[in-house]
Amino acid sequence: METLRHVVVFVHLIGFAVLFGAWAVQAFGGKREFTRLMTYGMVIAAVAGLALAAPWGMAAGPDLNLHMKIGVKLVVLLAIGALLGIGTSKQRKTGSLSPALFWLVGILTLANAAIAVLWR
Ligand code: HEM
Repeated sequence: METLRHVVVFVHLIGFAVLFGAWAVQAFGGKREFTRLMTYGMVIAAVAGLALAAPWGMAAGPDLNLHMKIGVKLVVLLAIGALLGIGTSKQRKTGSLSPALFWLVGILTLANAAIAVLWR
């Protein structure tokens, strides 16, 4: 069971890497727009994250702090999803993306990684 959990953490990290990597390519040298790869990475991180948040992830027993951490990560993820959804459709219609939407997705993605690693 523990090994399976580690595999899901691994998949979760791949999702994070795809989302942040795709964003970084656009941010540093590319066009500051959303790409399909960002949405794919977000979906992978979301599915694996939700799997990790299921009770088997609470191997140490119910822990209020862990629940808060996961709740905050879920809210941040929903914000990323909303921004990607709104931004992608605006981009498709108008051909351009507002810088605020673009930068927020990168910042919120890093914020979730920071919460995952630093909130103990
Ligand atoms: C874009 C969104 C997300 C990013 C960038 C992200 C990033 C990360 C990273 C870097 C780790 C590894 C930390 C470690 O192993 O110490 C991690 C672990 C984890 N994440 Fe996420 N995550 C995201 C969304 C979510 C969501 C939505 C949930 C649950 C609703 C979630 C639940 C977890 C859990 C349970 C772990 C296992 C490690 C732990 O207990 O802290 N994540 N995440």
